[in-house]
Amino acid sequence: MRDFIQSLPKAELHVHLEGTFEPEHIFAMAARNGIDLGYESPEAIVAAYDFYDLPSFLTFYYKAMHALQTEQDFYELTYAYFEKAKADNIVYVEPFFDPQGHTSRGVAFETIISGIHRAQADARTNLGIESNLIMCFLRDMSAESAMEHLLMSLPFKEWIIGVGLDSDEKDNPPLKFAEVFQRARAEGYKLTMHCDVNQKDILGHMWECLNEIQVDRIDHGVNSLEDPSLCEEIAKRGLGLTVCPVSNNFVVQTYTTDEIRKMLQLGMKATVNSDDPAYFRAYLTDNFVALAEHGEFTQAEITQLVKNAFEVSWLSEADIAEHLAAVNAAA
Ligand code: ADE
Ligand code: ZN
Repeated sequence: MRDFIQSLPKAELHVHLEGTFEPEHIFAMAARNGIDLGYESPEAIVAAYDFYDLPSFLTFYYKAMHALQTEQDFYELTYAYFEKAKADNIVYVEPFFDPQGHTSRGVAFETIISGIHRAQADARTNLGIESNLIMCFLRDMSAESAMEHLLMSLPFKEWIIGVGLDSDEKDNPPLKFAEVFQRARAEGYKLTMHCDVNQKDILGHMWECLNEIQVDRIDHGVNSLEDPSLCEEIAKRGLGLTVCPVSNNFVVQTYTTDEIRKMLQLGMKATVNSDDPAYFRAYLTDNFVALAEHGEFTQAEITQLVKNAFEVSWLSEADIAEHLAAVNAAA
C-alpha cells in the first residue's frame, strides 16, 4: 500500500510552511541567528514535543518561529519542505504561511514572502513542483491586524492565490473576519478557513463559512458530518475539505477515518493533507498510510482522495485535467 500511495502523483492543499520546520533546522537556524530557544540539541526539541490539543501544539509552533529571521531562513524553510514533497511524489502544493507570526516579532512582510517566493521558483525549476501560496490570518489576533496584513500583501498580490484563517478557533468565529475576507475576495484572492475538529460552536462556524463568508474551500471540516443539511450543501457546492488524519490524531485522538470514508460516500470532496508534518512526524504519504492502516482504506478510496485534491485545487481546469490523467495512468 505504501508503494501504491507513493507512486501516485499527489497534491497537498493544507500544509503550514511553519509546520514543516524540522527540529534540526530549528536548532541550526536559532544558533545561526543567535536566538536562544532553550534547547541544547535537536533531540531536546523533539523531547519537548507534547501535543494533545490545539493550544498545546500552537504554543510550541509559535515559539519555534523565533528562529526564522532572514529572507534566507524563509527560503530554506520552504525549500526543505519542497524536497520532502518531492520524496513523496507531490507535484502540486498550495502551502499556507502565517505572516503575523513573524511581523509581530519585527520581521518585515517583504522578507518573509520574498524568501518563500524564491523557494517556490527554485522548486518549480529544480524539482518540477508547482505551488500557489495562501496567506493565513491568525484568528486569535484582531480583525484590524488581519486587515493591515491584507493591505500589506497587496504589492505582492501576484505571488498569493488566496487567504486562509488559522490558529486558535475558540471564540474566534469566521464572522469576526467578514470584512477582511470580503475585501480579500474583491482583491481577487480565493478564500478558505480552518474549521478545526471538535471546536466550540463548530457547526455554526461552518454555516458562517458557507453563508456569510462564502468560502471556496474548508480546512478540516470533519464535524460537518453531524449536520446532514451541511453535508448536502457542501456536496452540492463541490466544496473541498482538507482533512489531516495524523494531525487530528494529535489534537483530538482519532484519525477520523470513519468521517473521511463517510464524506466520500456522501459525494463530498474530502482530501488528505499533512497540516504540520514536522511536528506531527508525518508527511503526506504517511497520512495516507495511516488511513490505510487505521481505516482499511482501499486503493480505490485512496485514488479518489488523491483525485479530489486536484479537483478542488485552485489550478486552471486544463491543469486539473492534466493532473487527473496522470493519476489515472499511475493508479
Ligand atoms: N496553525 C498551524 N497549524 C494549525 C492547526 N492545525 N490548526 C489551526 N491553526 C494552525
Ligand atoms: Zn491547519
